[in-house]
Amino acid sequence: MRPFVVAANWKMHKGPSEAVGYLKAFLPHAGSLPGRNKIIFFVPAIDLWVVQQALRDTSIGWGAQNCHYERQGAFTGENSPAVIAELLASYTLVGHSERRTLFGETDEALAKKLRALQDVGIEPMLCVGETLNEREAGGTGDVIRRQLREGLKLRDPVKPFLVAYEPVWAIGTGKVAAPAQADEAHRVLREELERIGGRDLAEKTPILYGGSVKPENSGELAAQSEIDGFLVGGASLQAEAFLALARTEKKK
Ligand code: 13P
Repeated sequence: MRPFVVAANWKMHKGPSEAVGYLKAFLPHAGSLPGRNKIIFFVPAIDLWVVQQALRDTSIGWGAQNCHYERQGAFTGENSPAVIAELLASYTLVGHSERRTLFGETDEALAKKLRALQDVGIEPMLCVGETLNEREAGGTGDVIRRQLREGLKLRDPVKPFLVAYEPVWAIGTGKVAAPAQADEAHRVLREELERIGGRDLAEKTPILYGGSVKPENSGELAAQSEIDGFLVGGASLQAEAFLALARTEKKK
């Protein structure tokens, strides 16, 4: 059975002291979460040290929101996958739509980042998703299949990764994809995973949904058979709201 992964993406919010305060409020409840749930915090890279100190003796995972594909070099302002690994991160996001649209990240660069993370023992979470124009033009399937295929092009075939489906029009807009609509996109991705790496890969790879997930809509989304968790932006910024999401029970 795949785990149910509830991941927080803090984006460019919270410095080290706020991060520690948040985790202090969250941690006392972590022991009572459903056993199938895996919790991950994607934090600003500058917070990774304190987050590691706070979480290292727990079953909660953490990671960065982006990295470079080289381990070191003259890349001012970038973060090395090797350093992220040194900070004991188990996961890191690759290809969040904000990276793709605001920072011009290409499928080609993302494929290199995904492989670089696997090479240092970090599980990448590859984000895919269509824009509103692409959806309205009927292109959702083609776009997310391409992003998945291209992003995985250089992957290490024996190392795990996760996928997050985040329709761009649902991110930070309060517009959540209808549960059946999200489930359908997840099905498309699962089929593509099978084409890429066979039935086993498709069965074992968690596909998370992201885009305006809140405690009020999480139950209905989790009830969809292909949704294996959430990648949460806004609602992850308050420990209490994120805790409510972390408590989601996956029934099927
Ligand atoms: P919101 O939950 O704020 O819509 O953000 C989703 C997201 O981008 C998570 O990566």
